Amino acid sequence: MKHFFVLISLLLGLSASAQVNKLIVQADKVGALIQSTMYGIFFEDINFAADGGLYGELVKNRSFEFPQTLQGWKAFGQWEVRTDGPFERNPHYIRLKSFGHPHKHTGLENEGFFGIGVKEGEAYRFSVWARIPEGSKPAKLRVEIIDPKSSGERQALAVQEVSIDKQQWTKYQVVLTPSSTEPKAHLRLFLRGDVAVDVEHVSLFPVDTWRGHENGMRRDLAQALYDLRPGIFRFPGGCIVEGTDLDTRYNWKNSVGPVENRPLNQNRWQYTFDYKFFPDYYQSYGLGFYEYFLLSEEIGAEPLPVISVGLACQFQNNDESAHVPVAELEPYIQDALDLIEFANGSVDTKWGKVRAEMGHPEPFHMKFLAIGNEQWGETYPQHLEPFVKAIRKQHPEIKLVGSAGPNSEGDQFDYLWPEMKRLGADLVDEHFYRNEQWFLSQGARYDNYDRKGPKVFAGEYACHGAGKKWNHYYASLLEAAFMTGLERNADVVHMATYAPLFAHVEGWQWRPDLIWFDNLESVRTVSYYVQQLYGTHKGTNALKLTMNGKNVTGAEGQNGLFASAVYDAQDGSYIVKIANTSDSYQSIEVQFAGLKKGTSFTSGSRILLTSPDMDAENTIEQPTLIVPQEQTIRVNGQVLNADLPPYSFAVYQVK
Ligand code: AHR
Repeated sequence: MKHFFVLISLLLGLSASAQVNKLIVQADKVGALIQSTMYGIFFEDINFAADGGLYGELVKNRSFEFPQTLQGWKAFGQWEVRTDGPFERNPHYIRLKSFGHPHKHTGLENEGFFGIGVKEGEAYRFSVWARIPEGSKPAKLRVEIIDPKSSGERQALAVQEVSIDKQQWTKYQVVLTPSSTEPKAHLRLFLRGDVAVDVEHVSLFPVDTWRGHENGMRRDLAQALYDLRPGIFRFPGGCIVEGTDLDTRYNWKNSVGPVENRPLNQNRWQYTFDYKFFPDYYQSYGLGFYEYFLLSEEIGAEPLPVISVGLACQFQNNDESAHVPVAELEPYIQDALDLIEFANGSVDTKWGKVRAEMGHPEPFHMKFLAIGNEQWGETYPQHLEPFVKAIRKQHPEIKLVGSAGPNSEGDQFDYLWPEMKRLGADLVDEHFYRNEQWFLSQGARYDNYDRKGPKVFAGEYACHGAGKKWNHYYASLLEAAFMTGLERNADVVHMATYAPLFAHVEGWQWRPDLIWFDNLESVRTVSYYVQQLYGTHKGTNALKLTMNGKNVTGAEGQNGLFASAVYDAQDGSYIVKIANTSDSYQSIEVQFAGLKKGTSFTSGSRILLTSPDMDAENTIEQPTLIVPQEQTIRVNGQVLNADLPPYSFAVYQVK
């Protein structure tokens, strides 16, 4: 039905409805500071977001540590699995032994994550830890990137040879440059000559990673994060932090130090939904806490790590015995204190030294720490309290983030907010994955929040269309509308992060997501552009904006409009964001009240997001179907007149 109205309106070119919506921006009264952390990102290793996604590694099960040692691999010829490798926490490796016959081959082939995406002419760094076992002559490994389905004469897209000539474990490297682009290539190793060789930690990375780091990120995906200009970066989860049980919780200490020695962890999203089962989903921790902190720094966002509060995922464990008894929390609390030392401590401290050895002697200047993800019930404050006491004592400078549980309202939510206040949490993390009606009804959500309690962190939210859990345009529009309420309440809302961040088109468990990708390309959703418009137009101070004396929250009589305004002290501009969630054109008059007589805006611009199809989305095939369109606008003195198309979101900026 919605399509119908939009199409008719657009086709008939209906001009503004007769009624003019008069918005007044109180331009002379600069309001609450918009925190630099206001709009940010939330990263969780769900949907193959880390291994197989942002993390540049192209080899799956590179250390042969999956419970099925050769998952992701095909071994051929003569081989054996051995367990006395050079890396204590990843002891498995493969011994390859040739047949000593020129036409009989021994080797290994890796399928990557849904294949290995390689691009013609780009460089890929292959590396392997290897040695020749006692009694063997120096060996040669032929390394190939192949197209396993090739219909041409050869399967190989790139070939190199590596000579293994030492009996001690040594890292060998070679660069391969494929002759053509292939989204589903494989990596293949052939053993040459009458020899044996031991191989461990077999790796293939694009040379061109984000900022050129060897253990780096996929460039296009990291760039997409940078382009959001995020102010805060929450990681590494989400439910991943809690684990299905305590053994599989995210233990940050396992994610730092040399990558070869970071132990594997099961990814809880492997089996969370039995209709979306990925038996090969593990966390290599190659993208670990050091890399997260570094990425935060490089994209200009404050790091916000989340750590376990000693409660395994409460959705999956009703039983108290699945959790750490409060009296036994000490090691968990120590993990929190050690994390602060890892991030901020001097190089003379134990964990500061680990950071320095990894390449970052300077502190990461971490200011925020979240304890627990979506926890609930009395057990949560009971667990949280000793953390708060210990951290406050040693690190009063760190701002602590508690949780309001998994729901956006209700008994648990109402119980936890006062508890967080009692415990003195600095911010409370609220999550809402809700439908269209909910988003339409929440424009005023924060208008009456307690101004004396903890600040709000809208830590995970996305509009889940009823029966339409994909990134359709209408959901993004409602997120934009809802966010005007965050902005208007910048005095109490200090952070907001959409969720989840990434999804592989072949490996997702959860929709919608901000950025989709396959092995070669990525696509920014309309929700991404909404986040980006807020992130790049956040201004420095909130301004009061009203219509008939009331906040513009989509309330009755407001013609489906949601609006907010900010001032940007850096360039002296005024920014007004308006979402028109109605099916008609809306004629708007924005008056900037309180400016000196004679003041006249000299320039203006409008960035518009709109679509005639509410169900449309950006896809890998059509990545730019719906993107913001910018145009300059004329402004009359201190008044801005605009016609907003049905179902659209506009950002106006005047100077
Ligand atoms: O983002 C997906 C999941 O949603 C997160 O892990 C969890 O915090 C929430 O329930």
